[in-house]
Amino acid sequence: MHIIFGGTSGLGLEMARLFRADGGRAVVVGRFYDAAQHGEGFELDVYDRAAVDWAVGECGRQLEGEVLESFVWSAGYIWRGNFAEQPDIRSMAEVNFAGALPLVQWAWQRMTEQEAVGKLVVISSTSGVKPRADEAVYAATKHAQVGFARSLGMEAEGRNSNAQVLLCLPGATKTPFWDGHQPDDYASFNDPQKVAAKIVATMSSQITPYAEIAMPHGTLV
Ligand SMILES: NC(=O)c1ccc[n+]([C@@H]2O[C@H](COP(=O)([O-])OP(=O)(O)OC[C@H]3O[C@@H](n4cnc5c(N)ncnc54)[C@H](OP(=O)(O)O)[C@@H]3O)[C@@H](O)[C@H]2O)c1
Repeated sequence: MHIIFGGTSGLGLEMARLFRADGGRAVVVGRFYDAAQHGEGFELDVYDRAAVDWAVGECGRQLEGEVLESFVWSAGYIWRGNFAEQPDIRSMAEVNFAGALPLVQWAWQRMTEQEAVGKLVVISSTSGVKPRADEAVYAATKHAQVGFARSLGMEAEGRNSNAQVLLCLPGATKTPFWDGHQPDDYASFNDPQKVAAKIVATMSSQITPYAEIAMPHGTLV
């Protein structure tokens, strides 16, 4: 079974479709979850701490006795502009990084305890390794994911378990992430189906405890 946090849209939803097309079970999670539109899953606003606590239990109930093949951490949003004018900045830190940690920790515990291979897939960004003038807080949350994934990858390498970490660094991609504020060069953004396919193919071939892939802007159009 695969759990895709941020699976109700964009890259996460494309990955869920690929897992399902391959005969797998994919549970998608997001604020605007709709069973008819997204298939199996449940609703969660990760900004709501009580809801996150409930979701940790719900992940366990959904998993029952199954193997957790992967937990995909894809939820996130962007805001671009002057830092001085960014509204509710704590929201971005919570939604893009801190709020998800209890779910990620639950998944990691499960994957390190099970005998079968389990993959923690962290969808960061090229903004996780490169500073950008107009997205200071977004870049900070994406840098945090990179530091987390690389450090946990080192932990995985020293551990006698089948838990793996895959860090993904996509560049600009044509998803609802950009709804309402598409940049002028949107046509040159990557195709989300191609990005999702590359991530899933890398998951399938990964045999090391840690791996990372970059998919920069314009390379998977
Ligand atoms: N698109 C790009 O250009 C690009 C480039 C580099 C990295 N990324 C990263 O890729 C990841 C996926 O983005 P995407 O492009 O697929 O964007 P997207 O289509 O907007 O998907 C974002 C996902 O995050 C979920 N989400 C947002 N706020 C949430 C909240 N408060 N609680 C729970 N879930 C929440 C959304 O679900 P709901 O709407 O249902 O809440 C949705 O499933 C993000 O982490 C993003 O930073 C994207």
